Amino acid sequence: MSSVNKNSVQKSPTFALTTPLYYVNDVPHIGSAYTTLAADAIARFQRLQGYEVLLITGTDEHGQKIQRAAASRGQSPQAHCDTIVARFAELWDCLNIQYDRFSRTTSDRHHAIVKAFFQRVWERGDIYLGRQQGWYCVSCEEFKEERDLLSEKRCPLHPNQVVEWRDEQNYFFRLSKYQTQLEQLYAEQPGFIQPESRRNEVLSFVQQGLQDFSISRVNLDWGFPVPTDPSHTLYVWFDALLGYVTALLEPDAEPTLENAIAHWWPINLHLIGKDILRFHAVYWPAMQLSAGLPLSRQVFGHGFLTKDGQKMGKSLGNTLDPFQLVAAYGSEALRYYFLKEIEFGRDGDFSEVRFINIVNADLANDLGNLLNRVLKLACRYCEQRVPAIAQRPEGGMAASALPADHPLGAIAAPLGQQVQQAYSQLAFSDACNACLRLVQAGNKFIDEQAPWQLYKQGQTAQANAVLYVILESVRLAAYLLSPVIPTTSTKIYQQLGFAVDFNDRTTVAAIAPFAQHAKWGCLPPGQALGEPEPVFRRLERQDVAPAPVA
Ligand code: MSP
Repeated sequence: MSSVNKNSVQKSPTFALTTPLYYVNDVPHIGSAYTTLAADAIARFQRLQGYEVLLITGTDEHGQKIQRAAASRGQSPQAHCDTIVARFAELWDCLNIQYDRFSRTTSDRHHAIVKAFFQRVWERGDIYLGRQQGWYCVSCEEFKEERDLLSEKRCPLHPNQVVEWRDEQNYFFRLSKYQTQLEQLYAEQPGFIQPESRRNEVLSFVQQGLQDFSISRVNLDWGFPVPTDPSHTLYVWFDALLGYVTALLEPDAEPTLENAIAHWWPINLHLIGKDILRFHAVYWPAMQLSAGLPLSRQVFGHGFLTKDGQKMGKSLGNTLDPFQLVAAYGSEALRYYFLKEIEFGRDGDFSEVRFINIVNADLANDLGNLLNRVLKLACRYCEQRVPAIAQRPEGGMAASALPADHPLGAIAAPLGQQVQQAYSQLAFSDACNACLRLVQAGNKFIDEQAPWQLYKQGQTAQANAVLYVILESVRLAAYLLSPVIPTTSTKIYQQLGFAVDFNDRTTVAAIAPFAQHAKWGCLPPGQALGEPEPVFRRLERQDVAPAPVA
């Protein structure tokens, strides 16, 4: 886990973002990896722009679902959680996720935060005892409306599981009290829920009128006792959402609410799947309002990875094992495919054949080969240096000497801004596609210009100019793709002669700022180049087996 330097002299703007805290009923699957990959790419993008970033992930370890999973393995809940949590941390390492905090809801520090938060809400008069009747899906840990159920009372999200009837005394949170304030929030901050389709879903749900929801359970041991009535256990979602607050505590800080919100609050972005939108976009802001906290700034609900149109998940047995996928293809390929190929916000099917084709075409052929070809030419004809191109008399960036209508310059000049905007809107696919367009234009340009012939014909200046713009195009694309494929971008940058490792924050901070590297024309003429080596090896199909059914 990397540490965040809080003592920097010049204060940078902060950006705190969260993945959901994953249930530990089972080892992580590819769906859990999807949210985390996206979060990591955003965190890297924000760091690249100079933000002080806190990426929070973690695990949601209480509740009936976990208690039952532990029992079915013959383990105590805590022992079970400890085993599974280790697998999550391992997966994040395999996928090259640079998180800053890992929040576990079974920690003592979290217990202290939950008690403090509950106390505030209690004192606000927002908690009362009432009767809860309804159909409960243990896999969702959520009551369902009867009209939403499939035949034989099956849960639409877990069609192989039937819901259970509950009729018990529970403590309730006065969600209905926050109807107007929430409506105001959605109206005044249209960006609070993204994308638009999810926002509309929430608006129509809220318009139907909000009902109080129960925040305690009876006959459940695995959870925190309700502070004011220990015969009840806190509802797992009430506890879990507060895991985001606990995560903000500095490691050596006393676990108080004041300490937790001292530096990083409010959280800038909660990245979640669309199935848990209501909790984050309705319940959570209402809880924050009740506790008198400033509200989180944005909730983005992405789509599902599907198999034959159905959400991939352990309970359906239609998912792939991310460990096996990484072992077979490496993290870079997976990161690229998921972020480039699936439009963020929509569902996307994973097919191994398509995955291999896309990654080979884009990273091995278009990007990797282009760099390799041009580096070999630079070795041969330019003493392994970035060739010099005509400079403007007043000096300035090398590429600014190029005509504005240069075929690559025309694409590259606005690229930095376009990609920056795309990442800011979490449009990873647009960001990747824009970079690839430049790389593809570079391939076309080198073939048309045939600089190897120009050298042979003695047209050195012209050939050098071709090499320069291609090296620069690959550099720019690699820089802008570094949040998604940091290791490949590092190899490219190093072969271009930069001492930077996009996986090492110190070296990233040490190179020139985003504004300079995201600009066309940053590659210094004369810079010594590295040895041309393939930056991305072609993938061969391995036929990864489906993950075993939970
Ligand atoms: N524990 C709750 C979250 C509490 S946050 C305070 C939870 N956990 S989960 O493990 O079931 O799901 C975590 C995330 O994984 C959700 O955002 C969910 O949408 C995502 N995914 C699970 N399966 C998925 C796919 N097949 N595809 C994409 N993401 C999916 O909910």
